[in-house]
Amino acid sequence: MEKWKGKIAVVTGASAGIGISIVKSLVSYGVHVIGLARRVEKVEELVNELQNADGKVYAYKCDVADQQSVAAAFQWMEEKFGGVDILINNAGVYKFMKILDDGETVNDDLKQTVDVNLMGVVYCTRAAFATMKNREFSHIIHMNSIGGHFVPFPSDSSPFYNIYCASKYGITATNEVLRQELALSEYSKKIRVTSISPGEVKTEMVAAAGGDAEKYYETIPFLLPEDVAESVIYVLSTPARVNVTEVIIRPTGERI
Ligand SMILES: NC(=O)c1ccc[n+]([C@@H]2O[C@H](COP(=O)([O-])OP(=O)(O)OC[C@H]3O[C@@H](n4cnc5c(N)ncnc54)[C@H](OP(=O)(O)O)[C@@H]3O)[C@@H](O)[C@H]2O)c1
Repeated sequence: MEKWKGKIAVVTGASAGIGISIVKSLVSYGVHVIGLARRVEKVEELVNELQNADGKVYAYKCDVADQQSVAAAFQWMEEKFGGVDILINNAGVYKFMKILDDGETVNDDLKQTVDVNLMGVVYCTRAAFATMKNREFSHIIHMNSIGGHFVPFPSDSSPFYNIYCASKYGITATNEVLRQELALSEYSKKIRVTSISPGEVKTEMVAAAGGDAEKYYETIPFLLPEDVAESVIYVLSTPARVNVTEVIIRPTGERI
C-alpha cells in the first residue's frame, strides 16, 4: 500500500457499514479519504474519530443518484485536492419488496435502487475519471454483490431481490465495459477497475430496508464489513501490472 500513501481516495456511502470500514482501512495506510453520503453528519463523526490516523478524513454531503450533487462534490475535490486517485463506488440501497407488489411507492423504490446502485456508480465514475486523467496512477473499485452474478431463489434466508440484482448485474457489465474502454484508451496502463462482490455482510442494510436485522442475522452466516475492506486493500495493494478485475467473497458456509 506504500504507493497510495498521501494519495486521495473517495468512498461513497461512507456513513455506514462497509463504507465506514473501508474509510478506516484506507486512512490506516496513510491515504486521505473523502467520505460521501447524504447523512454527512455520520461521516463527520468519522472525521473526529480518525483525527489521529495516518491519513486524513474529509466529509462531503452527496446524493450519488443526483448528477448535480455528484458534480458539485467532484468539483470541490478538484479545487481542494487537484483530483482523486482512488474511487470506491460503495453506496447502495436494498428494499424489501417484490417488483410485482401493489403500492404507490413501488415504482419510486425500484427507480431509486437503479438510480443509486447503478447510475450513481456511472455518475461518480465519470466524474472521478475526468480528474484521474492527469494523475499518476488510479483505481476505481465498485462494491457489487453476489447478486450481480446470479439471482438467489427466495427462501427464509434469501428474500426477494426485486430490481436489486438487475442493478448489480449492471455493475458486473459496467465494470467489464470500463475495463475494455480503458484498455483501448491512452490510460490503459494508468487506471485499473475492479468489481468486488460480497455475499451476506452484517451492516445497516437490512434494518435500513425495514427488516428485522437481529432475527435475520441469527439464521445465516455473514461477513463483517472489515472482511470486505480487507479485500479492497488487497486489490489496491497489488503491483501496477496486476488488475484484479473480479473478487467474490462469501461467508464460509453460505448456502445461496
Ligand atoms: N450488506 C450486504 O449484505 C451486502 C452484500 C453485498 C453487497 N453489498 C453492497 O455493499 C454496499 C454497502 O452496503 P452496506 O451493506 O454497507 O449498506 P448500509 O450499511 O445500508 O450502507 C449504505 C451506504 O450507502 C449510502 N447511500 C445510500 N443511498 C445513497 C445515496 N443516494 N447517495 C449517497 N450515499 C447513499 C448510505 O449513506 P446515506 O444513507 O447517509 O446517504 C450508506 O452509507 C452497497 O453497494 C451494497 O449493495 C452489501
